Amino acid sequence: MKAVLFDLDGVITDTAVYHYKAWKALAAKIGIEIDEAFNEQLKGISRMDSLESILAKGSKLDAYSEEDKLALATEKNDLYKTMIQQMTPEDILPGINDLISGLKAKGMRLGLASASQNGPMILEKLGLKDTFDEIVDPAQLKAGKPDPEIFLTGAQDLGFKPEECVGIEDAAAGVDAINAAGMVSIGVGNEQTLQKATTVVPDTASLSAALVERVWRETVE
Ligand code: G6P
Ligand code: MG
Repeated sequence: MKAVLFDLDGVITDTAVYHYKAWKALAAKIGIEIDEAFNEQLKGISRMDSLESILAKGSKLDAYSEEDKLALATEKNDLYKTMIQQMTPEDILPGINDLISGLKAKGMRLGLASASQNGPMILEKLGLKDTFDEIVDPAQLKAGKPDPEIFLTGAQDLGFKPEECVGIEDAAAGVDAINAAGMVSIGVGNEQTLQKATTVVPDTASLSAALVERVWRETVE
């Protein structure tokens, strides 16, 4: 095992809840109601794909022009950005700092594989800007999760084969992407939702460098 590719929202910090709140407010404004169960489908999915998904739920896919959709997505993002303004290193989820230092102590390289265009800004606020060896730019990708492209690009940028990497995700679409990339996947959250992961832990506090390495070794070797 040479590298670990991290998802950001819901793994490193709990921004998943702010994405949900911002989408819920935007959806309500255009007469569409979304709940937490529906929100599971939005996790890991790009901003525009999330909007399309919400519009489809409200049978309003054809009600808006491309320009209108862009305006709606921008409105959601502006709301989201106000919500995350106050983030500090205190908002790093439990166990993540220890996981990062443990992996670094083992000589592992770290990559960020987040669909979020706000990723670099969030890392800055969390004081993690210099932690990652590579940050995949989601704007350069052709396909979002569950397509493996983001994880394959991360592995390639780091200079390793997919089978030398582990991916960590809180979203079903993200676990599918890691698996399709041919990497060992660790899911953080609900065992049912993330059942396709190589291993699922209930929360980030349950993660450790030793666990990640053990799961990789037991799966690959
Ligand atoms: C992550 C989150 C998604 C979000 C996506 C795009 O994958 O899990 O909920 O829609 O990033 O984020 P952005 O910050 O670019 O709107
Ligand atoms: Mg996530």
